[in-house]
Amino acid sequence: MAERKLLLEHTDDPAYRTMAGYEAKGGYQALKKALGMERQAVIDEVKASGLRGRGGAGFPTWIKWNGIAKEKVKRHYVLCNADEGEPGTFKDKEIMENTPHLMIEGMIIAGWATQGDIGYVYIRGEFVDAARAVKSAIDEAYAAGYLGKNIQGSGWDFDMYVHLGAGSYECGEESAMMSSLMGERGMPRLKFPHAPLPTVAGLWDLPTVINNVETYACAPFIINNGGEWYATLGASTKNSRGTKIFSVSGHVNKPANYEIEFGTTLCELLELAGGMKGGELKACVPGGSSVPILNAENTRKAIIGYEEMADVGSMVGSGGCIFLNEHTCIVTFMWRTAMFYMKESCGKCTPCREGTSWLFQILDRIRKGGGRSDDMQTLHDVCSQIDGRSFCGLGDAAAWPIVGALKVFPEEFEYYIANGRSMVQGPEAERMMPESVVTV
Ligand SMILES: Cc1cc2nc3c(=O)[nH]c(=O)nc-3n(C[C@H](O)[C@H](O)[C@H](O)COP(=O)(O)O)c2cc1C
Ligand code: SF4
Repeated sequence: MAERKLLLEHTDDPAYRTMAGYEAKGGYQALKKALGMERQAVIDEVKASGLRGRGGAGFPTWIKWNGIAKEKVKRHYVLCNADEGEPGTFKDKEIMENTPHLMIEGMIIAGWATQGDIGYVYIRGEFVDAARAVKSAIDEAYAAGYLGKNIQGSGWDFDMYVHLGAGSYECGEESAMMSSLMGERGMPRLKFPHAPLPTVAGLWDLPTVINNVETYACAPFIINNGGEWYATLGASTKNSRGTKIFSVSGHVNKPANYEIEFGTTLCELLELAGGMKGGELKACVPGGSSVPILNAENTRKAIIGYEEMADVGSMVGSGGCIFLNEHTCIVTFMWRTAMFYMKESCGKCTPCREGTSWLFQILDRIRKGGGRSDDMQTLHDVCSQIDGRSFCGLGDAAAWPIVGALKVFPEEFEYYIANGRSMVQGPEAERMMPESVVTV
């Protein structure tokens, strides 16, 4: 199966980044159409499309939009999660830099459907070029009457702002993002059912719909062509519809973003990325560093779909797909992954704050040749104390990759512990993970 480009169709055309170029290719027609529809009809199209959130969890988008109060008594917010901190994922960056109007049009459509007043784009602090591109596109949208007062004569006002984060992975977690945007520390809040959903009490305790960049960017296609049309894409899968952008990296010949239809296989994605580089396929982390690793056999079997990927023991996640060749040391890969989560843990809850540090320390001593015979069991025990017991999803995300690697590649851990060195020999494994990265 080849690429199926919707969102990335014009990514190489610099003109598409401007209002003139975007409108020339049909830009903002979906918004005009939506403004002529009942708000509920817009939500119904999104429901018919089967669109699920592209930020990682795959939650049905229409349920969020539909959850915003229909009887408006307070201000409503539309928040775009453009933090993109998940290692391996770089698709939102490309959308914002090359097709910013697509995301903005999608957000305005979401604003119309949910009676929004203000949209915020919360962009990861390091994404300076993306922030500039989005800001410039927002300015153009104001000038063209797609933002601001009385949009296209509809009587509806909607404003949009860019907010730069400060490079914290945790601020991609939606409740931490809202706190950060409000000027508080970027730490997560209590979740439903212990606290109201963001659609009821989000930013400043007011109704807020929050979606990922790619999720919003799908909306113009759904409104232009209809939800039913969109749902024909990916129809071979159980419940995954449309296209998905995968950021392919690791040991491949052509690392880049590839947009495919759900139902494509991981092998076809690998083929699009030019195949393996420097050795045979050993493993794949298909959806960003948080998702369980697949061995070569399951990678070859994997069909891209939320349920289908679960069938082989992993997840679609955010679409950060890392292929690893035979020269990769899995213990070292996990050591580097554990370091990331330890550093990014916000420290609010004990299981994650302490547990991520223990995971790293155990992997670090294994890598330094001091592994103990019960270290694999201890890693398991620590993971089980983090997973499901942490205050937010970062804890789970730290535990899943290690549990997965222990299950899929136990012999690599056993060998490292018994022999004080990796069973994978050669410069490649060391080059990938330089010792100099260690700072603890
Ligand atoms: C630690 C952590 C980091 C996250 N980072 C991101 C992120 O960078 N971008 C994103 O869209 N979602 C991220 N999420 C998921 C969001 O909390 C939220 O589910 C998502 O923005 C919802 O949008 P969607 O329904 O369109 O996927 C993260 C979640 C966790 C637990
Ligand atoms: S799981 Fe706990 S310590 Fe980890 S990031 Fe979430 S709130 Fe912070």
